[in-house]
Amino acid sequence: MLRRADQDLNRRRFIQSGLSAAAGLTANCRARAFAQTATPMASPEIVSSGVKLVPYVDPLPLPPMLRASAGQTLDMQMRQFRRKLHRDLPPTTLWGYNGFSPGPTIETRRGVPIEVRWSNHLPAKHLLPIDFTIHGAEASLPQVRTVTHLHGAAVLPPDDGYPEAWFSAHGETGPAFNPKPSRYPNDQPATALWYHDHALGITRLNNYAGLSGLYLIRDEIEDALGLPAGEFEIPLVLQDRLFKADGSLLYPKAVNGTHPIWIQEFFGDHNCVNGQVAPFLEVEPRKYRFRLLNAANARFYHLRLYSADAAGKVLDSPADVPVLVQIGTDGGLLPAPIHLGSLLISPAERFDVVIDFADFAGQCFVLTNDAPAPYTMGGQAAAPEVMLFKVTKPLSSKDASRAPDELAPFIPLNPAHAERERVLWLSEQERKSDGYVIISLLGNARWHEPITEDPRAGSTEIWTFANTTGDVHPIHVHLVRFQVLNRQAFDVQAYQQTGKLVLTGYPIPVERNERPAWKDTIKTYPGYVTRVIQRFDLPTGTAAATGDRFRYVWHCHVLEHEDNEMMRPYDVIA
Ligand code: C2O
Ligand code: CU
Repeated sequence: MLRRADQDLNRRRFIQSGLSAAAGLTANCRARAFAQTATPMASPEIVSSGVKLVPYVDPLPLPPMLRASAGQTLDMQMRQFRRKLHRDLPPTTLWGYNGFSPGPTIETRRGVPIEVRWSNHLPAKHLLPIDFTIHGAEASLPQVRTVTHLHGAAVLPPDDGYPEAWFSAHGETGPAFNPKPSRYPNDQPATALWYHDHALGITRLNNYAGLSGLYLIRDEIEDALGLPAGEFEIPLVLQDRLFKADGSLLYPKAVNGTHPIWIQEFFGDHNCVNGQVAPFLEVEPRKYRFRLLNAANARFYHLRLYSADAAGKVLDSPADVPVLVQIGTDGGLLPAPIHLGSLLISPAERFDVVIDFADFAGQCFVLTNDAPAPYTMGGQAAAPEVMLFKVTKPLSSKDASRAPDELAPFIPLNPAHAERERVLWLSEQERKSDGYVIISLLGNARWHEPITEDPRAGSTEIWTFANTTGDVHPIHVHLVRFQVLNRQAFDVQAYQQTGKLVLTGYPIPVERNERPAWKDTIKTYPGYVTRVIQRFDLPTGTAAATGDRFRYVWHCHVLEHEDNEMMRPYDVIA
């Protein structure tokens, strides 16, 4: 059990640390946000399995590329298999696609639709402990239910991986099941989307077991930039895990929880990249493009490079490290590159980053994480080791790749054209005795309650997420890409007493990599509203009669929250 004193210490440490800059809020704002929010939640499940693995002994594995051509139907089979995730660990039983976790990277072109036939060949019994008291995960249902969502894609509802569109390996199906292959129009700018499981009530378990992968869209704008490509473009899928000594995945059960098994957030004590525990990558002294995805259940990563020796030990005398040049984010390329010393990536966010190793031949750099878990309250294990870059390969050819100063055009959505602004509350219900979270809610409603968000097709709306809790929640809206407008402090106590939104500060500009940018997942800070503007366009060519409803979802991407009511259906109305 995490004591209050520890929490206070953590909190102080955090406020004093330089992290606030990365988080986009000044230390003052942050302190005020903390003062306003309720008691930090208790976190009884601080778990370490006791398994200690030496970092940087295994090479970074690369998921295979699956190039899809026009009109092709790809077969993606969910299966159970075993894989060695570390030199000193026996093979781990995983779930993945076509024998890989992360699954193959699907590569597509803008404007070239493809289909994917997702099929379930998993065993009947789940790898991990299911909590049958969680809505949608009742004991009467088959244990192993899957449905794949293509995160960030504009698709029609039957192809969107609706949480109740699940299916089992044995022909059982959920009420929204679509027997046809999923159709992806790819009618959006070049970016890194990702596919992952979305089955109601067990999304956290299916993803932790390995059901996720990258999905790239390419276009002419990207082609013309001359970015590092081919073997110099590398996916980095981050995920934290706990292992038992026999190599199997550990997902802890609650100790004195509010549900018999469900925990508030999962945090592992080992960081995996592309599935492997803290791997290394040998690179040439040239530019590389890294496609970063945070596929973790709940962990935020605050990433930074440090110069290190060949074993990954950080050097005492700090030396220069390569700059992280961010060129894209969730929804596509940025208008111009941003030079970063560190980057903060929440679950489900993607960062497209160029690193130039040209001046660093012979040197090594560790990529480390120092984000507290949960973010930002802390208290749980946060292993710093993520991966090691060794600039030890000879230059194979002259580096002609570029990261130009102008990337992709950006047209801001005009707030004056918004048809309406919705204030959407993010809240938690806690057990009185110890503050253990019972459920998290969006708009104070549960999953099965009637629709409350019903934007008109083609209309522009501002959604103002008001976070009354003590944690940062990464909020994701299906169908749309949005632009972040600003953040602004509000009075949490006034809300708790009156249910009203009382803004207390001026709007604060967001991070340089949050605007101008197209995003689909946004960090919402405690005690702040976070405003996004979005246009609810249905996929091009959608045949709809006036009044037709198209159902999607929006939710928190901390998967333990999403599974326990922090997800709501919404309708786009034609
Ligand atoms: Cu990444 Cu609704 O999901
Ligand atoms: Cu959340």
